[in-house]
Amino acid sequence: MQAARQTNDEQATLWNGAAGHAWVEMQALLDRVMQPFETLLVEAVAARKPSRLLDVGCGTGATTIAAAKTRGTGACVGVDVSEPMLALARVRAGREAARATFLRADAQTHGFDPPAFDMIISRFGVMFFDDPVEAFANLRRAATEDAELRFFAWRGPAENPFMLVAERAAAPLLPNLPVRDPNGPGQFAFADPRRVERLLADGGWTDAAIRPIDVGCRFPADALVHWFTRLGPLGRVLDAADARTRSHIIESVRSAYDAYVHGNEIRFDAASWLVIARSAPRSGGAHE
Ligand SMILES: C[S@@+](CC[C@H](N)C(=O)[O-])C[C@H]1O[C@@H](n2cnc3c(N)ncnc32)[C@H](O)[C@@H]1O
Repeated sequence: MQAARQTNDEQATLWNGAAGHAWVEMQALLDRVMQPFETLLVEAVAARKPSRLLDVGCGTGATTIAAAKTRGTGACVGVDVSEPMLALARVRAGREAARATFLRADAQTHGFDPPAFDMIISRFGVMFFDDPVEAFANLRRAATEDAELRFFAWRGPAENPFMLVAERAAAPLLPNLPVRDPNGPGQFAFADPRRVERLLADGGWTDAAIRPIDVGCRFPADALVHWFTRLGPLGRVLDAADARTRSHIIESVRSAYDAYVHGNEIRFDAASWLVIARSAPRSGGAHE
C-alpha cells in the first residue's frame, strides 16, 4: 500500500498530538536512552564554543539545555514545531537555570532573525521536512559564513530492527496501522548517506562528512509495554482499538521483543549517521 505524502502541516499535527504528548510523557526515559548522542553533540559544542547555537527539532530540550550549560557557549536557541514538547523544554531550562531559549517555528521556513548561528545541531530532529533542500537552505540563511552543521539521523530499518519490532508484530492484527513511506519525511528519511550529501549540497552546505555511529542502548524492562504502546506508528493508533484487541496486540507484541530482554533490561543497538557540514560561501547555490 502506498502511504499518503506528508507535509510539514501533517508533521506539526503529529508532533503537537499523539507523538508530541508521548515524547513529553516519556521524556526522562527517552533522554536516558539517547544520552550517548547528547554527549557526542555536547563534546563538539564544548570544543567549538559557538557564540550562537541553534538546535533544530529540539523537542523537550535536552540537547539545547546541555549545550547552554557548556562552558564558553553563547546564546542557545531550540526550535521546534511542537508546543507541548517546547513547554516542557522551557520548564526544564528554568529548573536547571540554563540560558536556553525556545522558539515554536517550522525550521524549514522560519525567517531566523538575526541570521547569525555559528553552530547548528540536531539530535534526530531534521528528518521530518517535507522539502529537505528548502529546509537546509533556510538553515544556511540562518547561519554565519563559517558555521558548522552537526546532526544525528537514523540509518535504515535493516540496521535498526529494534525500531520496527512493534509495528511488524502488530501489523497483522491492526489493518489501520500507518505505513511508513520510505521516501517521505520520517524517522528513516536520511538512511541513504548519498542522498543526505546531495540534499546538503543543494541546500548550501559543503564538506559533508557522514560517518556511522553505533550506540548500545538500554532501558528497564518494566518500561517496555509503555515504550511500544506510546511510541511509533503503533502508539498512534492503539488507543483507538477496543480493549480486547488492545490486550491481544500487547501480548503478541511483547513476545516479539524477547530477543531484546536481558534480565530486567531491554538492550538494543541503535545505528545512526553523524553528519557534519560547513556553510558554503554565499555566492551561487540553491540557498541564494
Ligand atoms: C525524534 S524527535 C527529536 C527531539 C529532540 N531532538 C530529542 O533528541 O529529544 C523530532 C523532533 O523534530 C521536531 N520537528 C519535526 N518537524 C519539524 C520542523 N519542520 N521544524 C522544527 N521541528 C520539527 C518534532 O516536533 C520533534 O520534536
